[in-house]
Amino acid sequence: MRSLIDIRDLSTQEIDELIKTACDIIENPEKYSEKCRGKKLATLFFEPSTRTRLSFEAAMYELGGNVLSVSSGSSSSAAKGESVADTAKTVSCYADIIAMRHPKEGAPFVAAANATIPVINAGDGGHNHPTQTLADLLTIYREKGGFNNLTIGFCGDLKFGRTVHSLISAMSRYTGIKIVLISPLELKLPSYIKKDVLKKNGIPYSQTTDLLSVMPELDILYMTRVQRERFFNEEDYLRLKDSYILDVKKLETAKPDLCVMHPLPRVNEISVAVDSDPRACYFKQVLNGKYMRMALILKLLEEAEK
Ligand code: CP
Repeated sequence: MRSLIDIRDLSTQEIDELIKTACDIIENPEKYSEKCRGKKLATLFFEPSTRTRLSFEAAMYELGGNVLSVSSGSSSSAAKGESVADTAKTVSCYADIIAMRHPKEGAPFVAAANATIPVINAGDGGHNHPTQTLADLLTIYREKGGFNNLTIGFCGDLKFGRTVHSLISAMSRYTGIKIVLISPLELKLPSYIKKDVLKKNGIPYSQTTDLLSVMPELDILYMTRVQRERFFNEEDYLRLKDSYILDVKKLETAKPDLCVMHPLPRVNEISVAVDSDPRACYFKQVLNGKYMRMALILKLLEEAEK
């Protein structure tokens, strides 16, 4: 059974096809409005979410399907100690496809190994968030026209930022990519990603703590939130949370066609005044996420029926 746990589960050709389908959905939504009639998506969210859960649910409704939802661990039998494996086997009896978010890294992988229906990882701990990456890729495609020859700055919490880990992995397959890692020393990108993804694919990268010094060279600036929920120590969180605040002044040296991205939610790291700058793309990402999730649901359900 085909699931999506890691963005590397999709070939470059499959990503291209998903983007093509998403663009067709944008142009011709009526063509898709009955494609999932009679199908059910189960959204199992054991960690808070606004965009991912609601965009999955909106995606399924716009495809003509229905939704079953667990919106918090405390409202399901996980609170009584039920395992992820048993939850997956159970939900397979009711639904046709699962989208799962879980605070534990690897939980969607365990679910996929036990489910008899496709499982989509909707974010697992500090590990991966492949459907956010699909939203990011569609945004980059629509803003930049493609994926090659881009310098991408990732700024903020690069240690725990699962969206950063997944997007670096996805972009490493294209040519002419340069990565600039901007973070406090304590929140640097994990070494295994530098070794297994950047070095392995020969992607040039640099590391700095200073956002302003690299701003002029960036085509894309991917801001991230410092994630309170991943810290063991509140003092460290308070010390690091406002390390980077992007404001209108800081954008003065940026390229006129810079694309400012953020997976959201934001706390303080992008000033609200930046929202009206044409370079702000983060609410476009939100909408693109729905289209890419529609394309993904269609693909996985089609493959499950073969
Ligand atoms: N980007 C993202 O995953 O947002 P939510 O946590 O609101 O789903």
